[in-house]
Amino acid sequence: MARKNLNIGLVGYGFMGRTHSNAFRQVNRFFDLEYQPVLKAVCARDGEKVKAFAAQWGFDSVETDWRTLVTRPDIDLIDIASPNDTHAEIAIAAAGVGKMVLCEKPLGRNVAEAERMVETVEKAGTANMAWYNYRRVPAVTLAKQLIDEGRLGRIFHYRAKFLQDWTISKDLPQGGAALWRLDVNVAGSGVTGDLLAHCIDTALWLNGPIDQVTAMTETFIKERKHNLTGKVEKVGIDDASAFLARFSNGSLATFEATRYARGHKALYTFEINGEHASILWDLHDLHRLQFFDHRDEGRLRGWRSLHITDGDHPYMKHWWVPGLQIGYEHTFIHQMADFLQGLSEGKPVAPSFREALATDYVTDAVLRSAASGRWEHVKKLV
Ligand SMILES: NC(=O)c1ccc[n+]([C@@H]2O[C@H](COP(=O)([O-])OP(=O)(O)OC[C@H]3O[C@@H](n4cnc5c(N)ncnc54)[C@H](O)[C@@H]3O)[C@@H](O)[C@H]2O)c1
Repeated sequence: MARKNLNIGLVGYGFMGRTHSNAFRQVNRFFDLEYQPVLKAVCARDGEKVKAFAAQWGFDSVETDWRTLVTRPDIDLIDIASPNDTHAEIAIAAAGVGKMVLCEKPLGRNVAEAERMVETVEKAGTANMAWYNYRRVPAVTLAKQLIDEGRLGRIFHYRAKFLQDWTISKDLPQGGAALWRLDVNVAGSGVTGDLLAHCIDTALWLNGPIDQVTAMTETFIKERKHNLTGKVEKVGIDDASAFLARFSNGSLATFEATRYARGHKALYTFEINGEHASILWDLHDLHRLQFFDHRDEGRLRGWRSLHITDGDHPYMKHWWVPGLQIGYEHTFIHQMADFLQGLSEGKPVAPSFREALATDYVTDAVLRSAASGRWEHVKKLV
């Protein structure tokens, strides 16, 4: 079958620029799809560095201003892999000229930005998707299947954590390349929008909407030198964030994220306890799903450690032979494969911008509660 080209214009060549470029390059090698991404152009502000990136990954051309990229007639899809303060402006401009838009998480720095993004892509009727890639870890997709099949029964508890330790030093500056996550004007928030957003997206997908939250946040280091101004400035982000939640299905939850958990680099875990069974997943062991079913025969009952590498596991038939693992980068390839399949079928692919807005509604309630000291209601998606 002759494939149809989908011309990509990528913004940002950092961490996510690399995972997305890899996904665009690999997806048609492992998935049989009508569309193929073409690496048409990559954009970032430093002309020399962006040229080097384009040469390394095989992009046809470069731009140093995203406004030029967005209006190029040879680009079908704008992929936003730049810091959070750029998401709304680029997405709105791209959708405004009819481009498809993919955007990294969190959708906006705040709800107002995210709502404008949803409104614009929906008005334009253009394909859109947010890169909440953890949904496409085969073990996490399997967890979704098991829950939807009713194997856990009624859900009582949801427990999620995302722990890191890279900002403990008080000498670490804030702002600029690599450290924009510590600058609240660029990031919007700290670990709430950065790490908890992932935990929340997965939780909403697996366990449905959250009604209310009560939260606490802390900024352990109150002032840091700013890389762009050279001055010591107040730190506006949350370094740690923890909240209790009530889901609409009656289950209770705890969520925690921090960049101050010495020894942990990217420990994302979730556990779900249901009436019949429990599930536990750990990013450091991402190809395994821990499963306990109380209905097993008593003598053999216990936690099973499922190795998610078989052809009948989600996505795995596209890869190697049973027993051989895949990793982090494959989650982006899976998401791109689903997006291209959706394009062929004329169907939206989750999470759309609107679905990603649900996560921003929860992070907004978390930050409101941390400030008010009260339980806060989560705005509902319409
Ligand atoms: N899905 C995930 O698991 C995941 C992981 C990490 C980051 N992210 C998200 O991806 C986005 C980018 O994060 P990152 O870790 O790749 O950051 P990064 O700092 O590694 O890279 C950011 C890139 O954006 C470019 N950039 C900055 N401002 C720009 C502008 N105005 N115009 C064009 N290019 C610009 C920089 O030059 C750099 O190439 C963020 O929104 C972040 O929250 C998601």
